[in-house]
Amino acid sequence: MKVDVLLGLQWGDEGKGKIVDVLTPNYKVIARFQGGPNAGHTLKFKEHKHVLHTIPSGIFRDNAVNVIGNGVVIDPIILQKELDALAKLNVPYKDRLVVSRKAHLILPTHRMLDAASEAAKGKDKIGSTLKGIGPTYMDKTGRNGLRVGDIETANFNETYSKLKEKHLQMLSKFDGFVVEGLGEMETTWMKGIELLRSLTIVNSEYFLSAELEKEHPILAEGAQGSLLDIDFGSYPFVTSSNTISAGACTGLGIAPNKIGEVFGIFKAYCTRVGSGPFPTELFDNDGEILGKVGNEFGATTGRPRRCGWVDLPALKYAVMLNGVTKLIMMKADVLSAVDTIKVCTHYNINGDIVEELPFDINANIDPVYKEFPSWKIDLTGMHSVNELPVELTNYIEYLENELQIPIVIVSVGPDREQTIERI
Ligand code: GDP
Ligand code: IMO
Ligand code: MG
Repeated sequence: MKVDVLLGLQWGDEGKGKIVDVLTPNYKVIARFQGGPNAGHTLKFKEHKHVLHTIPSGIFRDNAVNVIGNGVVIDPIILQKELDALAKLNVPYKDRLVVSRKAHLILPTHRMLDAASEAAKGKDKIGSTLKGIGPTYMDKTGRNGLRVGDIETANFNETYSKLKEKHLQMLSKFDGFVVEGLGEMETTWMKGIELLRSLTIVNSEYFLSAELEKEHPILAEGAQGSLLDIDFGSYPFVTSSNTISAGACTGLGIAPNKIGEVFGIFKAYCTRVGSGPFPTELFDNDGEILGKVGNEFGATTGRPRRCGWVDLPALKYAVMLNGVTKLIMMKADVLSAVDTIKVCTHYNINGDIVEELPFDINANIDPVYKEFPSWKIDLTGMHSVNELPVELTNYIEYLENELQIPIVIVSVGPDREQTIERI
């Protein structure tokens, strides 16, 4: 038995939450492997629309256990809010959720350090979600972090205070940054720690290995997207973890030879939230239409997402890095609203036509486009490939041919039901 991986191929928000929820009936375990509450994964079914930040997107199904892996960073305040929201919907989360002992904790002062660092960067800011992600991973790699397992020890409060004091010293070095409301945040944080203690805390690498032994299928759920990867993304405008498939190995303790299918998910166009390069970004009417019809607002921060066309050099890069075996195309319905669809096939960099992402994606990239007519009809009520308009089939087949990977699912709306399988 192998572990399948599902991850985003663009700058995040591809629709991972929706598809993990759709695929969960095929799995016994859903495991998040990196990121933290910077993620916002939206699920929609019947009258429910629900956004998850830390909790894997299989939580609404009763057939699967959801694992928060060691590669994830957890903010107990946000986790508590997520769990309270699930309790209101009568989701028996305690029976469906386990948490890795080795996952790192986001402290209130990590969030403050994130805010102080962003403010100090001024116009060069990353556009972080301000959830403390960068500072928490810095403490992890700097070997100072607090882990879930630490909350089970007798001297946890002391270890917490030591790290907090260190952070306060660091914060005092930021010009003009004032520490406010820490006491209140700490009280809520400690309540979150109590709730975390009441969950099933496991050595998730052993847990997952045992599940594999039992021949239980596992789906690893990524957060963010490949172009936000700390090593291969548009550095420094990236997040602080490995979002690519290799991150599933380190973020869950899965050996590389245990990886099975790699589902690469992408929007039929492209979006980015936060700062940083975006070669195919649109500043015209089409961009506005995509934002409006696609309802492109961040699920975590509410910020408007920047919109643009599909970028094939970037998608090919992501397919290569992840070893994608199956593609999933989202939000095809949104492209019904434009007249002409464009796909960037190459980059023109100072007269050179290239397909490779340059070291500096901020470089003077002029996208070379190929145009496709839009289908201009409503797809949202369609349920089978036979109903799809020929213009969409042509678009799909063109992308499959360029990427050399089959597109196995086409999504035509946010609801579970608005999902068309192509095999
Ligand atoms: P994630 O972070 O990858 O899980 O994606 P987000 O939840 O942040 O953003 C995807 C957004 O698109 C959410 O609002 C979804 O409800 C919505 N969505 C997902 N699939 C589709 C689709 O096929 N069509 C439309 N119109 N919306 C979709
Ligand atoms: P999901 O899982 C889209 C972006 C932020 C910022 C950069 C760094 O929902 O796809 P961070 O808070 O990690 O320090 O921010 O990364 N970012 C996301 N963009 N979707 C996400 O997650 C993101 N998580 C972080 O906007 O540009
Ligand atoms: Mg999202």
